Amino acid sequence: MSQDRPLNNAELLSVLDWYRAAGVDLAVVDEPADRFAQKPPAPTAMPPRAPLPGDAPAAPPPLSGPVGGDPSEARQLAASAQSLDALRTALENYDGCGLKFRATRLVFADGNPEAKIMLIGEAPGAEEDRQGKPFVGRSGQLLDRMLGAIGLDRTSVYIVNTVPWRPPGNRTPTPEEMELCLPFLNRQVELVAPKLVMTLGGPAMQTVFKTTSGIIKMRGKWQDVTIGSHSVPALPSLHPAYLLRNPPAKQQAWRDLLSFKQRVEELGLA
Ligand code: URA
Repeated sequence: MSQDRPLNNAELLSVLDWYRAAGVDLAVVDEPADRFAQKPPAPTAMPPRAPLPGDAPAAPPPLSGPVGGDPSEARQLAASAQSLDALRTALENYDGCGLKFRATRLVFADGNPEAKIMLIGEAPGAEEDRQGKPFVGRSGQLLDRMLGAIGLDRTSVYIVNTVPWRPPGNRTPTPEEMELCLPFLNRQVELVAPKLVMTLGGPAMQTVFKTTSGIIKMRGKWQDVTIGSHSVPALPSLHPAYLLRNPPAKQQAWRDLLSFKQRVEELGLA
């Protein structure tokens, strides 16, 4: 490709497609920066001077925000929250997890905080990031239909994710990101104190069941788990996004839903 001519529309679209496939879905600055043309700064012992008029714009913020957050800070903050509102405020003020700096907003929870049934998903996607609520995109619509099929809806369940900020490009949160957010999830579960939990998808199952096993092996098997200091029977099931990509798996998800419904009825929760 010639370096000199501007790209035509088809070429621009294919560049955008390539960005999207690579998980790039956010422009950090308006103008592109040619990193190959930049020279590393000369080492200097002088402190940086204040910017002057005419200086080049400051470098964009780092793509993932502060890294290497301190899990003990997260634990302290979460443990001191005595209500869900206080926990939300603590998360809004918490800067230890880099995911926050690439997300539009916090996605704390949806549904009924008084509900005795809790659903735990993986991480917000694009639509959740826009609206600030979990499971409001396509997989959320399927989740609503799945709940409806067993007589539940968002007034009878409380819905959260293992991490409350959207990972860039919808990638799976890293173990470090999950560790930094886990104290907040633990505290959310302690404060809601559900009588039944369902996890959706592999990462949520691995976090809640503290296992490295795969979801296909684990799904449908009830276990008593302890989340924070709260013990509760939990059922791992498949993620609605997976069911959208793989419709035959709805058969297995349906079996899980029927098993969940039976426990809900036994405990008189709906
Ligand atoms: N997938 C999740 O795991 N959570 C959401 O909130 C949306 C999609």
